[in-house]
Amino acid sequence: MARTALVTGGSRGIGAAISQALKAQGCNVAATYAGNDEAAAKFTDETGIKTYKWNVGSYEDSAAGIAKVEADLGPIDIVVANAGITRDAPFHKMTPQQWQEVIDTNLTGVFNTVHPIWPGMRERKFGRVVVISSINGQKGQFAQVNYAATKAGDLGIVKSLAQEGARAGITANAICPGYIATEMVMAVPEKVRESIIGQIPAGRLGEPEEIARCVAFLASDESGFINGSTISANGAQFFV
Ligand code: CAA
Repeated sequence: MARTALVTGGSRGIGAAISQALKAQGCNVAATYAGNDEAAAKFTDETGIKTYKWNVGSYEDSAAGIAKVEADLGPIDIVVANAGITRDAPFHKMTPQQWQEVIDTNLTGVFNTVHPIWPGMRERKFGRVVVISSINGQKGQFAQVNYAATKAGDLGIVKSLAQEGARAGITANAICPGYIATEMVMAVPEKVRESIIGQIPAGRLGEPEEIARCVAFLASDESGFINGSTISANGAQFFV
């Protein structure tokens, strides 16, 4: 039976690779995006994966968008909370707005994405929740008090959801990508990026497909006993 999957931030970067990996695994996939209509249209043209536009920071928009996806594709079996932003600044320069925008998207956005889907998963006694956290939620990062707080919070979410969902056939797991070759990492000043690469024993950035592979594994029917775990994929940069 083909599973239906929702991937937030699923038309670019790591999310685009996840959407494609789940499609290759036989899922019907819906990918959300927040603003870049051109990239989303191109992604649909190239992959045949439907895209939906909403702001994961809004509960109302998320619930309405999810209802539309379920009307189009059927009940969502797999949800990948991947949408994320950075607003990097040293703490003494970080504004309340930079703090709040990151909290709204990266942390509240996970609540807003999973909460409307959760009751249906409980009823159907099957669900796969995968949250894309970050190495920087594990180790912290200069200029990322906001981002690191959300990514550490994401780990708390999955460990709690795992306990609540286990008896209903739902798993919740997190992936902590290291530095991956996406627009987000390419936006880091070159000198800083080069120094980060110097700290990665693999000697290179990761590829989005290397994260997508972890998601496809966790999202499969056969991964039912893997619950509340965190997979680190960071080229040996950091161990928990
Ligand atoms: N560790 C220690 N010191 C650092 C540092 C670090 N990692 N990064 C910068 N600094 C220092 C600089 O050397 C500089 O020091 P001096 O003043 O003594 O020269 C100082 O911090 C920079 O201060 P500024 O006031 O000039 O900083 P700024 O306001 O211009 O901000 C910055 C610059 C936002 C910190 C910029 O350097 C930056 O973007 N850094 C990268 C942060 C980062 O790694 N973000 C991760 C993005 S990728 C991601 O998030 C994906 C994921 O999940 C892995």
